[in-house]
Amino acid sequence: MPVAVIADPRVTVAGIPNLDAPPAYQPASLAANGLSRILLPSGHLAYHLTRYEHVQALLLDNRAKRGPCNQEGGASFLPTISPPELLLNSDFPEHGRLRKVVARDFSPSGVEALRNKTKQVIHQRLDALQRQGDGADLFTQVLDHIPSIVSCHLLGVPLGDRAYFRPLGHAVQVASSADVPELLNQFWGIYDYLTDLVTGARPTCQDGMIQRLVAARADSEPPLTDQELVGVLLGVLIGGDQNALSGLSKVVYTLLAAPPLWQQLVDDPGLIPNAVEELLRLIPLGTISIFPRSASADLEGPWGLIPEGSSIYADAFAANRDPAVFSDPLTIRLDRNEARHLQFGYGLHNCMGAALARMEITTVVQILVQRFPNLRLAVPADQVPWVNGIILRRPSGLPVHDFTSS
Ligand code: HEM
Repeated sequence: MPVAVIADPRVTVAGIPNLDAPPAYQPASLAANGLSRILLPSGHLAYHLTRYEHVQALLLDNRAKRGPCNQEGGASFLPTISPPELLLNSDFPEHGRLRKVVARDFSPSGVEALRNKTKQVIHQRLDALQRQGDGADLFTQVLDHIPSIVSCHLLGVPLGDRAYFRPLGHAVQVASSADVPELLNQFWGIYDYLTDLVTGARPTCQDGMIQRLVAARADSEPPLTDQELVGVLLGVLIGGDQNALSGLSKVVYTLLAAPPLWQQLVDDPGLIPNAVEELLRLIPLGTISIFPRSASADLEGPWGLIPEGSSIYADAFAANRDPAVFSDPLTIRLDRNEARHLQFGYGLHNCMGAALARMEITTVVQILVQRFPNLRLAVPADQVPWVNGIILRRPSGLPVHDFTSS
């Protein structure tokens, strides 16, 4: 008598080709106090926190500093250092003076003002995709354009500038160690470009964020310098394009690579905001999830004691899969409703663009599911091309077919 085979209806991370990257660190010996450590690419041993509760507590502790990691010889995943005035490189209390100038624009209500523009751009790009027909590339024709167009609109930057700043932002986020002088050239290229926007050497639109911040610089005490404005805006220019695109393209890829997940959203579009959170829980930007910190004092916490001067990797990637917090953590459950994930970081440096990324990703998925419920990958998922970098890791093409509407 034949035995009925019941297919496992669960979709797990392991079932999605390439979703997880190999770790960007090497395992290392335990510290004398028994805590786990890893070896970073910079050659530093770092305490490795992987439990949700520990990662959250460490990221809330302002004595865990970024500044020392961003100095020559500092503990890092990156092959170079970057200017200290970047938000991510600054520490309490200076950090607050910089960040507060853009807090309102990036709040959920501030971002809401961009939703209609985002919808309009998505529909325009999808019209073009549909005209190309089966086999058209959803990544290059649609996704690749959305965050950068929305960012230009937000910042008040001419759309034509994208051809200049986008390849630079891409290279900076890939952060390859193969040619560090060239990487630095690219970094300073985008930094100088932004300096020209802030000083008026290049044109910006009157109603954009750049002109608004320049006009309001004296509201900060002391007034923000050009360098500080660039330090804040660099995160918007690069993060608002490359980081949003990495999250967006991996969320869409995952849904297309697992048709049961896609179908679940077609059947119940109300689930989409929750589904996006569940996918983001499992999907970091690149091969790392958080930048290292340095202990400016003995740090006692739920982990035990991390001595002053130690390097620390608060691994949000691992914390987001902590079985003590997320049941059956490697299973993708689009209706999961457990703890808030840490993919956008936590505490002082929590992602400035989280609400923007959420809005863009959710809007794209809503429109895709509604317009093209039968959409499928046109190649097997394991043949989708990827770019693998440190802060940027994502598909570089998503050929699709079946643009029928029901
Ligand atoms: C899915 C998309 C995104 C993910 C997963 C993500 C993730 C993160 C994480 C984990 C951090 C904290 C890093 C740390 O503490 O070491 C961070 C910080 C940051 N992100 Fe994002 N990000 C995303 C999108 C964006 C967007 C769209 C923007 C720009 C508008 C942006 C701008 C920034 C900035 C400026 C910081 C530094 C904040 C600070 O130091 O105060 N990110 N992001």
